[in-house]
Amino acid sequence: MLPYGRQSIDSSDVEAVVAALGSDWLTTGPRVADFESDLARVAGAPCVTVTNGTTALHAAYAAAGVRDGDEVVTTPMTFVATASGAALLGAKVVFADVEEDTANLDPAAVEAAVTERTRVVAAVDYAGVPADYDRLRKISESTGSILVGDAAHAIGSTYKGRPVGTLADLTTFSFFPTKNLTTGEGGAVASTRPDLLARVRAFRTVGVVRDELRHTDEGGWWYEVPEFGLNYRLPDVLCALGSAQLRRIGEFKTRRSYLSARYDELLAGVPGLRLPAQRAEVDPMRHLYPVRILGGRRREVYDRMRAAGIGVQVNYIPVYWHPVFEDLGYRRGMCPVAETFYAEQLSLPLFADLTDTDQDRVVEVLRGILGS
Ligand SMILES: Cc1ncc(COP(=O)(O)O)c(C=O)c1O
Repeated sequence: MLPYGRQSIDSSDVEAVVAALGSDWLTTGPRVADFESDLARVAGAPCVTVTNGTTALHAAYAAAGVRDGDEVVTTPMTFVATASGAALLGAKVVFADVEEDTANLDPAAVEAAVTERTRVVAAVDYAGVPADYDRLRKISESTGSILVGDAAHAIGSTYKGRPVGTLADLTTFSFFPTKNLTTGEGGAVASTRPDLLARVRAFRTVGVVRDELRHTDEGGWWYEVPEFGLNYRLPDVLCALGSAQLRRIGEFKTRRSYLSARYDELLAGVPGLRLPAQRAEVDPMRHLYPVRILGGRRREVYDRMRAAGIGVQVNYIPVYWHPVFEDLGYRRGMCPVAETFYAEQLSLPLFADLTDTDQDRVVEVLRGILGS
């Protein structure tokens, strides 16, 4: 089965991991700080690594101080982790609808959803296209809430010339193998605010801090836990892979852009098909190639493409459709734009090592099904 996304691993990645395995440090060593500074160059802001994109969100919400009784406004058109990290901390998740074309959080819907209990507004850069951060920033500032950007799809993207990592107060990344770069499992949180990043760092290190101690002069071994945290540390072995991958991020972006433009060209004018949105102010790292299958045929096209060995994917089931949210009283129909988007959405294979020949096959099968 041709997957919809997969990693690109070359000999430089293998050598980096082997060197880490032979070093003194499998975890908590120098490769962690190295990867964090390599990431900061791409993100445009200092970064703390964590074990995956889900824990990055959990740590970001914890750093934002999310707790019982708070509200977190976010999009339903995302992987469930964007919402569940906040729910796990006791917040009520408030879903705001998305823009019809990008499927990113709609600032007008956010404006209508915020209250004095809103602690965080959390956007997602769907498919690698950054959300409208300038408008979201205004809303979060007016409510005194923290802006979180789930950039699991978007490392390498820019918005109005600014890299993701500088757009929100806290920005999270995922390095799952289908993402723009991989460490197997892995993630990070970026922030231009040292206070928030210090809280992320403490949370991912079981709450341990070594400065601003309550009890001083106890001895060189002394550390303290002022607030609870978890062990979300990314080991050196995976950080080594991350640094090696980052050296090729420019290549990855070029290839993803090329393949997306090629899909645009090869699929232009196919009846019953709508191609992904473009936005002038963003330079996206194309993470997904999300098409819309019109005329109620999405399920048929999904089944037939899979039967033909093409691993198309649906991104995403509206988050509040999951039983965990249903059981909390969330009902279908809440965000109609997102639900219509979901009903038509299909992600075609897109990854750096996808060959032109494989892409031609995807196009041929899709055109065959849609009868063009
Ligand atoms: C938008 C979004 N947020 C969060 C995550 C969670 O990342 P991870 O799989 O690394 O936990 C993903 C990845 O699946 C994602 O696509």
